[in-house]
Amino acid sequence: MPRHHAPRHFLADDDLSPDEQTQVLDLAARLKAAPYDARPYAGPQSVAMIFDKPTLRTQVSFAAGIAELGGNPMLVEGRLAGIGVRESVEDVARVLGRQVATVVWRTFEQSDLELMARFSGVPVVNALTDEFHPCQLIADLLTVREHKGALAGLTVAYVGDAANNMGNSWLLAGATAGMHLRLAGPQGYLPSDGMFARAGAIAARTGGSVTGLADQVVAVTGADVVVTDTWVSMGREDEEAAREAVFAPYSLTQDLLAHAAPDAIVLHCLPAYRGKEIAAEVIDGPQSVVWDEAENRRHAQKAVLTFLMEQTAGDS
Ligand code: NVA
Repeated sequence: MPRHHAPRHFLADDDLSPDEQTQVLDLAARLKAAPYDARPYAGPQSVAMIFDKPTLRTQVSFAAGIAELGGNPMLVEGRLAGIGVRESVEDVARVLGRQVATVVWRTFEQSDLELMARFSGVPVVNALTDEFHPCQLIADLLTVREHKGALAGLTVAYVGDAANNMGNSWLLAGATAGMHLRLAGPQGYLPSDGMFARAGAIAARTGGSVTGLADQVVAVTGADVVVTDTWVSMGREDEEAAREAVFAPYSLTQDLLAHAAPDAIVLHCLPAYRGKEIAAEVIDGPQSVVWDEAENRRHAQKAVLTFLMEQTAGDS
């Protein structure tokens, strides 16, 4: 009988070492070419997908991907489950762990996701929290690799709300990949000092770098990859008007993009708001790779799930 290791989780981008991140990206590329090559959920075993915030890409790409991995994607309606309201995260985790092989959860607090991981006994995957969106970053890095080759040494400019989950995840995942990260946002909308320190320590080992800037033109100048995200993340809707005023200068327009390398690519995790954080001519223009990026969610997440299941089951 295989000996089971403690479950491996993917809660934040730096849960993967640089070598492991490369391994996952290689596997994602392989599964993109051969979608049915990995069958970690053959049986089928079930994977619970729980959403406490809106979703399109994440639900669809996980459901399709889990099916391709031989598993049963089980949608658990967040509102009905009432995790942390109707019963504690710990009790939900214990129950889910007796029924499913993996838990995929989109929620607000990173600390709740960590509790789920501590008590479930099965791999837990972050499908977005207020703090991180690590599955998106595996898809993003896969997309950059497809268009640019090696990741190490590339310069990434992230403009807009750099204090959100995508800003944090780009810092950690980009540093892990040995990239040079320049994040530009208005005062109060950059990652915390602690997050910069956490990413900086990784970058010191991988040869990457992390910089926070107020000036979006400085950030974008010469960049190989230009990234933005909505100014109003899920859960922040009541701040919309104030945010639009403060973020307006950081809109990714064609004029701003013109400062990047001529062959720069543009990423956006979607949903996008044309005329706000990104101009229509940019997201719909020739430098945009957002549809590849959206497709790559499935390939990336399949690789993450397969990696976690292999690491958890292990037979050594
Ligand atoms: N920062 C955005 C990402 C959406 C996929 C949000 O949290 O709403």
